[in-house]
Amino acid sequence: MPNTYYVNTAIDYTNAPPHLGHAYEKIAADAIARYHRLRGDQVFFLTGVDEHGVKIEKVAAAEGITPQEFVARISPQFISTWEKLGISYDRFIRTTDADHEAAVAKAFAQLVDAGHIHKATYDGLYCEGCEEFKNERDLVNGKCPQHDTPPKPFKEENYVFKISTFKERIRQHIEANPDFIQPETRRNEILNLMETFPDVSVSRQKVKWGIPVPGDEGQVIYVWIDALLNYLTGIGWGSDDALFQRFWPANLQLVGKDITKFHCIIWPAILLGLGVELPKQVYGHGWVNIGDQKMSKSLGNSVEPNELADTYGADALRYYLLREITFGKDGSYTFDAFKLRVNADLANNLGNALNRTLGILEKNFEGAVPADLPELTVELARKVATTTTAVEGHMARLELQEALEVTWSLIDAVNKYIDSQAPWALAKAGDMEKLGGVLYGVLETLRCATILVSPFIPTLAGKLWEQIGVPKALADQRWSDLTWGGLATGTVTKKLGPVYPRIEDELAAGKKK
Ligand code: ME8
Ligand code: MG
Repeated sequence: MPNTYYVNTAIDYTNAPPHLGHAYEKIAADAIARYHRLRGDQVFFLTGVDEHGVKIEKVAAAEGITPQEFVARISPQFISTWEKLGISYDRFIRTTDADHEAAVAKAFAQLVDAGHIHKATYDGLYCEGCEEFKNERDLVNGKCPQHDTPPKPFKEENYVFKISTFKERIRQHIEANPDFIQPETRRNEILNLMETFPDVSVSRQKVKWGIPVPGDEGQVIYVWIDALLNYLTGIGWGSDDALFQRFWPANLQLVGKDITKFHCIIWPAILLGLGVELPKQVYGHGWVNIGDQKMSKSLGNSVEPNELADTYGADALRYYLLREITFGKDGSYTFDAFKLRVNADLANNLGNALNRTLGILEKNFEGAVPADLPELTVELARKVATTTTAVEGHMARLELQEALEVTWSLIDAVNKYIDSQAPWALAKAGDMEKLGGVLYGVLETLRCATILVSPFIPTLAGKLWEQIGVPKALADQRWSDLTWGGLATGTVTKKLGPVYPRIEDELAAGKKK
């Protein structure tokens, strides 16, 4: 039986189209999902959109349309953007999906029956941007620091979820399971927050756009309770028990650092209240900034993931974000850094290594792969093996940047090998046997390097394999193909030109204001 691997992302608010931060998270999850598929795991990758709540009710009202009409326009933009970026999800959940709505109502009723949710008057300050109650100490100059707006006074008779019942168990779980919250900095933040974390109001009287509270149709379920439950409903909790049993508990819940607390305090409390096992890991990734500024509507500095993908290809964007930003930390996008990184690593290092090799192969061997000469390629073979092991270690710790870094040191090594073996000189001297061995070494290393990079840049990987002559490209290569000698002598290569053409433009996405 293969291992199962269930990974999910946060579900994005549909008050506006997807931005670069949303894209970053989905790209990271996608690379991780593809890596596990490559290793033969049975993967379920869930992503989607968070369509309910006051935030969306308001933007729709401002346009004079219903929230249904509003999300019907925005949600498909998430789907088409993820398609363009190669996000290989198994399900795209919308919180207006019928199976989700029914299962959320069921979960809510179950928590009420178990005595974890009860009616009470809730009095506090609410930030609609965060869809969250705020304490005075969360505010800076009386405003939510995230949205730069003052929260609104809120007083309602509604339903309250007793987080306090579960706090001690959650704290113990966090302490006993160092992997449960990663990276380490997030774990410490959560442990600090835990002590003072209040019970939460889990329904709304004045909001209409949500899932009705079962048996009390005058209220809707709080959008965060609705949204968090997508991780269960999206794999069949309440509708397809076999699917649910196969994939739960989730191996990885990937979310941004701003919402880690919902996932590490409220979410575990819901699961404990329902008697469902906790996920294995919640990972709180960092922020993508634009240069050194926070991405923000008021600054008008947003960068369009669609535009970047249309102009430079999805893989360039995927590669840049995962290679440039230390996973778990904040990082930044600038067009100059993007261009520099993509030109150096994709166009030059990776593209040229293949391109110049195929040129010499075409001239001297009619493009057919020659025989290996192990005494000439043993160092390369060793480097492929050590790189593979290093990548495995990095991926197990979600060190995506380091996985790419170590893979590019293999690609650097193959370029240095070409320079030092000087195949053009061997051709000139007519030393065809040695020339053949050198070219074999380069192509076989590139075939293997392409397996290592394929979760990150799947389209380019397909183009590389096609040129190397690997049959049926993508679908055929597996982690188990990372053994030296996989490229058969006589394989016919296909020189199709640069795998990734250099970016030359100056005026491009992210530079226009
Ligand atoms: O929080 N850089 O939705 P959301 C990196 N609906 N990640 C970013 C980012 C940035 N600049 N901006 C946002 C919500 N994100 C809820 C989630 S889950 C049950 C409900 C990340 O659209 C953010 O941290 O505000 C979150 O993980 C995701 O994008 C969706 O953010
Ligand atoms: Mg947000």
